[in-house]
Formats: sequence, C-alpha cells, structure tokens
Amino acid sequence: MCGIVGYIGYREAYPIVIKGLKRLEYRGYDSAGVMLYDGENLKLSKTKGKVSDLEAKAATEITTNGTIGMGHTRWATHGVPNDVNSHPHLSNSGDLAIIHNGIIENYAPLKEELIKRGYVFHSDTDSEVLVNLIEEIQLKENLKLGKAVQVALNQVVGAYAIAVFDKKTPNEIVAARLGSPLAIGVGEGEYFIASDASPFIEYTSNAVYLEDGEMANIRLHKPMKVRKIKDDSIVDPYIQELQMNLEQIEKGGYDHFMLKEIYEQPNVIKDTYRGRLHANEGLIQMAGVEDNLEKFLNADRIIIIACGTSWHAGLVAEYVFEEFTRIPVEVEYASEFRYRNPIIGKKDVVIAISQSGETADTMAAIKLAKENGAFVFGVCNVVGSSISRESHAGAYTHAGPEIGVASTKAFTTQITVLTMIALRLAKAKGTLSKSDFHHYLQELEIIPEKVKEALQTNDRTKEIAETFKDAHNCLYLGRGYNFPVALEGALKLKEISYIHAEGYPAAEMKHGPIALIDEQMPVVVIAPKQGHYDKIVSNIQEIKSRSGRIIAVVTKGDTQVRELADYVIEIPETSDALSPLITTIPLQLLSYHIAVMRGCNVDQPRNLAKSVTVE
Ligand code: F6R
Repeated sequence: MCGIVGYIGYREAYPIVIKGLKRLEYRGYDSAGVMLYDGENLKLSKTKGKVSDLEAKAATEITTNGTIGMGHTRWATHGVPNDVNSHPHLSNSGDLAIIHNGIIENYAPLKEELIKRGYVFHSDTDSEVLVNLIEEIQLKENLKLGKAVQVALNQVVGAYAIAVFDKKTPNEIVAARLGSPLAIGVGEGEYFIASDASPFIEYTSNAVYLEDGEMANIRLHKPMKVRKIKDDSIVDPYIQELQMNLEQIEKGGYDHFMLKEIYEQPNVIKDTYRGRLHANEGLIQMAGVEDNLEKFLNADRIIIIACGTSWHAGLVAEYVFEEFTRIPVEVEYASEFRYRNPIIGKKDVVIAISQSGETADTMAAIKLAKENGAFVFGVCNVVGSSISRESHAGAYTHAGPEIGVASTKAFTTQITVLTMIALRLAKAKGTLSKSDFHHYLQELEIIPEKVKEALQTNDRTKEIAETFKDAHNCLYLGRGYNFPVALEGALKLKEISYIHAEGYPAAEMKHGPIALIDEQMPVVVIAPKQGHYDKIVSNIQEIKSRSGRIIAVVTKGDTQVRELADYVIEIPETSDALSPLITTIPLQLLSYHIAVMRGCNVDQPRNLAKSVTVE
C-alpha cells in the first residue's frame, strides 16, 4: 500500500513528484506529502486527504524550484491518516527524509531503544522509527548514507520500498525494497524512483526494477550502484525497456478510469488471447503452460489462491477446469490458506491469481505452497510484479494498467487466461470432445465482439441505476458459472457505491436470504438462457411472489423471464462456460452508474487501495 515518488536530476522536481503522486494515488489516498530540497534545507508539506489537497497546501509551503524531491501518497497502516503521520518523515536532526511503502513489524522495540537514546517521535508511524534508526546508525558508526541504510535494514523485520535523502550528501538518494515494489527510471542526468513506472513514463522508457532484498545508491551523473542488502554483494542492474505508454495511464476522454477500463474489455480480452489462441488451427499456445504441461497433467489437484475479485475469477475457473479437464480444483482465499495449515502435496499445482501481483496474502500463500513442494503458476497483470517473479511459471493477462480501484478488466482477462489454460489441458487429456474443444475456441475468439455488444447495455443500466440508486441493500443471484458473477456484481456495488450487497447461489436464497426480500429489495438475477435456466426461472418466481424487485440479466430474445422481472438487461448469447465474460459487463456498468449518481468517488472508493501489500 502507499505510493512513493522521488526525483533527482536537472528538472524542477515538484511538478514531477506531484504528477507522479496523482498517478500512484490508486495505491492509497488518505494522506499525502512532499519534500523538496532547496539547496540548503528540506521543505516539507503534508496533509490528510488526497494529492489535490496536498497541492493546495503546498502552493504556499513549497516555494523552491529545487531539482531533488520526494513524495508519498498513503494508505494508513500505523497511525491514523493525519498531517503528522503523512510522509515524508524527517529524522530528529532534520537532515534525513524518508518515504516508505510497507510495514516495519518490529518498530516497537526499535522505537523504545531510540527513545532511550534521546530520540523524540512526532508521529505514530513505523516509518519515522526507520529514518531515526538510520540516523542513529549513521552518527554512531560514522557511516555514509547508503551504508547506514543497509545496516538499519538488516535490523528491521517487515516489508518496505523506501527512498532516503540526506541533505549532507545532496547528490544522492538511496532506495531499497523488500516485499513492496520499486522501479527506478533511468534518464540522461536524472533518475526517478517510484512504486511503479507510471510517474516517469513521459521522461524515460528505461527502468530498473529492484529485486526483493536489493538497494540502490542513486547518484547524480554517476551510474547507479545496486547491491544486496543482506550480504553487500554487487548486482548488475538490469535496465529494461518499458512497454507502458502515456495513453494507457490517462483517462482518454472518459469521466473515470473505471468506465474507461470497462470499455477497454473487448480490446484487452483480445490482447490476452493474441498469439495464444489459434481457433482455426485448433491450438492454444501459452509458453508457461507448454513448458510445464506434465506438471499440470500429473497434478493430483489444482489449488487456486487469490483475494477479492481475483478470487471470484478463481471460482469461475474452478467450474471451467473441472468441467473441461476433470482435474479436481479447490479455490481458497489466500488469507485463509496461509494461516490454516493446509494440506499441500508435491503433486499439487497452485494457481495464484493477482492483478497487481503485489497482494501480501497471495504472496505469503505462494511461499507456503512452494515450501511444501507445490508447483506455483502465477496469473498476474502487472509485468515484473512480485508474485509473477515468485511463481515458478505463469501467464500474464495483458490487460494494461488498471487504475480504477474497482477491478473490471482484470477480472475478465483473468477468466480468459484461465479458460485458455483449461482448454489447453483438456486437449492434452482428451477430456473434451474435439467438436466441443473447437466450439469453445471459436466462441472465445468472438467473445470481444459480444463484450462490445454487452457494453451497449450502458443506457439501460443507467436507467435502472436511476431507480435503484437510493437502495440500502441489494441481492445478487446466479447459478453455476454465474454464481461467482453474482459475488463479483455484489462486490462491485458495495465497494464503489457503499450500498450493502450480497451475492448468493440462487438456490441458496431459500436457506436464509429469502427472509430479506420485500418490495424494497432489489434482486439482481443473472439468468442467461444456457445453464440452469429453468431452475433460475423458478428462483425468480419465488422472489416475485415475495414482492422483490427483480432486475434480470437475460439472453437477447428471452421472453419467459421478461414476464416476471421488473427490469431486464439483454446480453448476447454465448456458451454457459464463457457466459461470465458477458454477464459481468452490465453488472459493472450498473454499479458504476449507481456510484456516480450517489456522488461517490468511483475510482478511489473510501478506505480502499488498489494493491493490498499489507495483511
Ligand atoms: C475489487 C478489487 C479487490 C482485488 C483484491 C486482490 O474490485 O479490486 O478485491 O481484487 O484486492 O487484488 P490483486 O488481484 O491485485 O491481488
């Protein structure tokens, strides 16, 4: 959680840092701060609130056009969001400044020790402990900044991406990472430091992604030095060319990133299968799967671990894998899996799904699976992310940067990747008939066109949103492949509009939730023609007879549900197993419009952050 940005070079640092923070705001947005070096002193401006609040405050507090600066946008872990707890934090002497993304778990004993030595703390944060620890080591052992940072980091337990500046050595910033991402942009006579590459994309396309446990001395007009924090060994920094472009991280005419990302789905699904799906040749080729085909084919079972929306994609995958491949599948919340002493065998294949590739619980679950000898396959969106590196092999979703906090295109591209894997394994195992296999390939290939068609429900969902925007509760029901879509629809609504919503398998309604149904209760029912249509029609009748208000997502041309439902949203037909890729679209649009009508901050819902890098 939290976003960090640093700049050292020849340009005015403040605008670079502020713009960078805005791009990283998806990582946390409860408070923000900047530090600028004016050639003599450190100028600080910090505030509770968003980067726009910081900008307003900094307008009077930051008067320098200095060329060294650092900034931070926070998602609070230690200490409530307020001005004082915002980063950057200064050391007691006022010489050192730190920005930190992560958690120092053993901050309490370190703080106690520092207090005994006369240090005074102004904030409740673990990060202020770290900057003072660095200062104490620097002074006590007469060390240069880089060495002092290294010694301090060897004393801390936890996760961090940090940048530290010392006004006594103003040509240098020291950066380090363990468990939190850190990219260093390498320009001509300038360096950028950031949680991801978006803050510096227009300045340089060369970046070094520090590996876990590495630190970098970034000095003006000198090549950066990278070393291992633990044993001081020198690492040759690998400079890679960024694939990201500016257009991808801007709104491109849409009011919100979420809407832009919903509309990107036809294209990004195509990007996901491009070069992998060859419908005419009857082929699926995914390098990570091909290289490890035997592991998949010999698996006793597949365990899918993920959180949130990615977990919902995992649930869809469970249905797809079991139907197509007959390999038993279990889907686990990573946060539960990691702590419940699960049974993991050497012949288990673990699929870890994560958009950000940084989710702490998923990362910990992967480590546990690896310790127990399982083969781990990562399905990530962010290229080079921690989870993609920690996995033995994997497949990227290629959805492009997802900036809206509510996940949309990540979900559909995850399902696309997982469906392709299941199809590939089914072909190898012969568990699908040739004609079914070819049918699914053809269907998958035309899914982007159907998603495009489903996006035409935008006006209809807007009308429905107008009617239900003031609801206090909402129920989402689906069966089979569309049960996880019901969960995802409910999650989308609650996280961005703050309306309480629950997703259920439609038949489970009778076992409790039916008690909630009255004339006030909107019930969204996913009822496409394929699958368990007759059963879901019966469920709709049960809702109707209790006066619930029914919003049904139906296949184009449906007449039966139309007679029962108060509102219908028509979507194009596809096979049952692929239907989540289509049924989810109107649900994303519905929650989007409801949230906008309620005046909610769609892209940055309260209390949330895009990547949850803490437990
Ligand atoms: C909901 C949402 C979250 C994430 C979850 C996992 O819209 O975005 O529930 O899906 O935090 O994140 P990743 O996929 O990055 O591991």
